Amino acid sequence: MPIQNVHNIDVKSKYVLLRTDFNVQIVDGKISEPFRIDASMPTIKYLVNNGARVVICSHMGRPKGEKISDLSLRVVAEYMNIPFIDDCLNKGFLADMHDGDVVLMENLRFYIGEEKNDDKFARDLSRGFDLYVNDAFAVSHRASASIVGITKYLPSYAGDLLIREIENISKCLNNPTRPLIAFVGGGKVSTKIGVLKKLVSIADKIVIGGAMGTTFNFANGLPVGNSLYEENMSDTVHEIENLAKENNCELFLPLDKGVGKEFDKNAKRENRDANDIHDDDIIMDDGEKTIARNKALLDDAGTVIWNGTFGLAAWGEKWGHASFELARDLAHWTKMGKIESIIGGGDTVAALNACGVFDDMTYVSTGGGAFLEFVEGKALPGIVALEK
Ligand code: 3PG
Repeated sequence: MPIQNVHNIDVKSKYVLLRTDFNVQIVDGKISEPFRIDASMPTIKYLVNNGARVVICSHMGRPKGEKISDLSLRVVAEYMNIPFIDDCLNKGFLADMHDGDVVLMENLRFYIGEEKNDDKFARDLSRGFDLYVNDAFAVSHRASASIVGITKYLPSYAGDLLIREIENISKCLNNPTRPLIAFVGGGKVSTKIGVLKKLVSIADKIVIGGAMGTTFNFANGLPVGNSLYEENMSDTVHEIENLAKENNCELFLPLDKGVGKEFDKNAKRENRDANDIHDDDIIMDDGEKTIARNKALLDDAGTVIWNGTFGLAAWGEKWGHASFELARDLAHWTKMGKIESIIGGGDTVAALNACGVFDDMTYVSTGGGAFLEFVEGKALPGIVALEK
C-alpha cells in the first residue's frame, strides 16, 4: 500500500502523535543549527491550522535509556516557544489540550524501549492518541518504537517533510537531468561503501574528495604523509574503481591537497601535488588544481548530488576552501537554473550555511545516515512501516 499523506484526512480535534527528528546540535546550551526544526514546520502548521491537538515527540543524541539533562528536548520547546512535557508516557496533560494546541514531549531515548523497538513501549506511547504522523525522515532508517512499533497501534500517516524527502531524493536518483555528478567526501570510505557501489551504477561521474580521497590515493600508491586515511580499504577501493569502469562511470580523485604540518586550524597552508605529499604533511583539504577541476566538471553537469565535505570545513575558509568553493559554484549554477543540486549530511549542510548558500540549493535533505541509506536503495524501516 502506498504511504498515506496526513493532508488527506480530517485531523480536527484529533490527538496526533507527531514524530519529528529534532536531533539538533546544541552549543553552550543553545541550538546552533535549527534546520531540522524548521523543516518540520509545514507539517506542524498544517496540523495546528486544521484543529489537531499536536503532541510532538523526538530523540536527541544517544542517551541509551538514561535521563541525561544535556540531552533534554526542553531547549527545543523553548526555541519553538511551545509547552514542554517532561515525560513520554504519562498522558495526563492530554485532557487539558484544545484544538490547535501543540506541545513537545521529552527525549524518547530516555526510555530503553525506544531504540529496542519494544512492543510494550510502543503501545504505552500510543495511548491517548487518535493517529500517528511520521515527519522524521532523518531517523527513519532506525527501527525504533516511535518509528516502527507505534504503527501497529495507531492509524499512521506521513508528514510533509517525509514526503518531500522521498520525492526529491527519488527524482534525483530515478530521473536525473544528466549528466549526474556525485561529489562524495567525508572521513571514511568504510561508512560509504554501499552508497558508492550504488552511485557508480547511476551517476555519470563521481568525484571523491576529503579523507576518502586520501584513502583512494593511498590505495593507488600515492604518498599520504601523516594524514587521516584508512589503510585497509585498498581492496574495496579497487572493487569500486572496477565497478565504476563496468558501469561507464568516470571516477575523479584528488589531484592535489592543502596540507599543514600541525593538525591545527592556524597551521600554515601549503598546496602539494598528490604525488608529492611529504612524510610530515597532514592533508586537511583538497588542493587548488582539484578545486579548479571540480569547477570545470560543473560546467557540464545537469544534476549534482553531494554528501561529505572535502576538508576540515568546520574550521572555516582556510581548511574548508575546497568545500566552500564547490558550495559557491553549485549555488551559482543552481540559481541560474542549469543544475539541480541535492545535498545531504550534517557536515555538508553546515558548510552550505558557513558560506551562506543553503537557500540556493534545489533540495537539502535533513538526513545524514538516512540520506545515505535511501540513496543506497535500502528500504528504510520507518517508510516500510507506513506502507503496511
Ligand atoms: C541523525 O542525526 O542522523 C539522526 O537523528 C539519527 O540519529 P542516530 O544516528 O543517533 O540514530
